[in-house]
Amino acid sequence: MAVRKDLSASAIERMTHRVYQFIRAMHPELADVDRAFAEEWLTPELLALFLTQSPADQEHSVRAARLLLTHGHSSRDLVTAALLHDVGKSAGHFTPWHRTAIVILESWAPRLLGWLAKQKVPFLSPFAVHCAHAQRGALLAREAGASERTAELIRLHHETAPGADEELAMLRWADDHA
Ligand SMILES: [Fe+2]
Ligand SMILES: [Fe+2]
Repeated sequence: MAVRKDLSASAIERMTHRVYQFIRAMHPELADVDRAFAEEWLTPELLALFLTQSPADQEHSVRAARLLLTHGHSSRDLVTAALLHDVGKSAGHFTPWHRTAIVILESWAPRLLGWLAKQKVPFLSPFAVHCAHAQRGALLAREAGASERTAELIRLHHETAPGADEELAMLRWADDHA
């Protein structure tokens, strides 16, 4: 039976997890078993899209998908969305400085993050990529043959109010903890 997690993590808890993700991202390495996992769940077209992600994002996405399966959420639409939810980030070059700033700004100053994303300064372009990655990722997934539902989950995975959509709530939970 699927388990719906308590999604009321505090801003500090969310930021702590994001910083942990960032530290792990500094030493990315996609294990063969993770690659095999992605191959098992994705069509060749979606796997090709998955592999456009940085190794760190590939690893993070596999962890998110495994977390969902571990907690009884095994719909193909949802697991596919977990594997591809951050694929829209592949357009950006995120330095450790950018990743750190995004972690902090998302939790404490989202309006400032939005303002920075609108500045036409090359150094700040990763902020724009980050802010658009859910929308862009949904489009890329759809173009590669993902279902409408998978694309919807990807598009909404940073929405602050998932409402009654349990799969979306679980994707957000897995994203925060993977
Ligand atoms: Fe994301
Ligand atoms: Fe993510």
